[in-house]
Amino acid sequence: MYSNILLTHKIVVTLFLLQYLIKFVLLVANKKEALAKYTKATRIAEMIISVAFLVTGIWMLVNWAPISTLIMIKLVCVFVSIPVAIIGFKKGSKPLAALALVLIFASYGLAEVNKKKKAGGKVDTSTSADPITTGKLVYQNSCINCHGADGKLGGSGAKDLSVTVLTIDQQREIIRNGKSAMPGNKDITDEQVRAVILYVGTFRH
Ligand code: HEC
Repeated sequence: MYSNILLTHKIVVTLFLLQYLIKFVLLVANKKEALAKYTKATRIAEMIISVAFLVTGIWMLVNWAPISTLIMIKLVCVFVSIPVAIIGFKKGSKPLAALALVLIFASYGLAEVNKKKKAGGKVDTSTSADPITTGKLVYQNSCINCHGADGKLGGSGAKDLSVTVLTIDQQREIIRNGKSAMPGNKDITDEQVRAVILYVGTFRH
């Protein structure tokens, strides 16, 4: 689920940037007619792309993103760039369109910086690019003995994870601090806790 959404988000973001770049080039080259034609021809596609961009972005934010300063800056860039872009293109203002372009690419660049920073960090499961992979590793290390590969084992009276109705916060609390026969996990990072919750979510059907 997460990997699919991440992939969709990446494709959509790339299309979004491409679309923006084409329009910007037309604007700067003073091809007003071509720009108007292009804008009209791609209006529906652009709407779909924008909605998919926001929906996948928000989904990941709610379900995963560790809210860091970098992500906050990225969000601000994206949300400021959208009205700036709309006004910029409507008025045919090159400076505004350029500003929007800078903002959009800045937020894209920040995502890459974030990834590099993580990749340069210490090598443990939390540096894996894909949280599902990280979550699976954590699960295999610390959870599988009681909960089983599909979450249903129920060893030591463990609950069936494929039918849990607990929220992410409630799960985090139990994973961190334990509950009755389940031991707490104090030695894993917040990121690993989030990853394992995400992985446990894949048991649901
Ligand atoms: C020693 C066995 C054991 C291990 C290891 C273990 N659990 Fe549990 N788990 C339990 C038991 C027992 C419960 C039921 C606790 C209760 O509600 O009384 C439980 C409950 C849970 C619940 C709450 C489910 C619900 O619907 O109430 C979650 C979520 C959970 N475990 C996740 C994990 C994760 C993730 C790991 C690995 C980081 C893990 N567990 C490792 C035994 C274990």
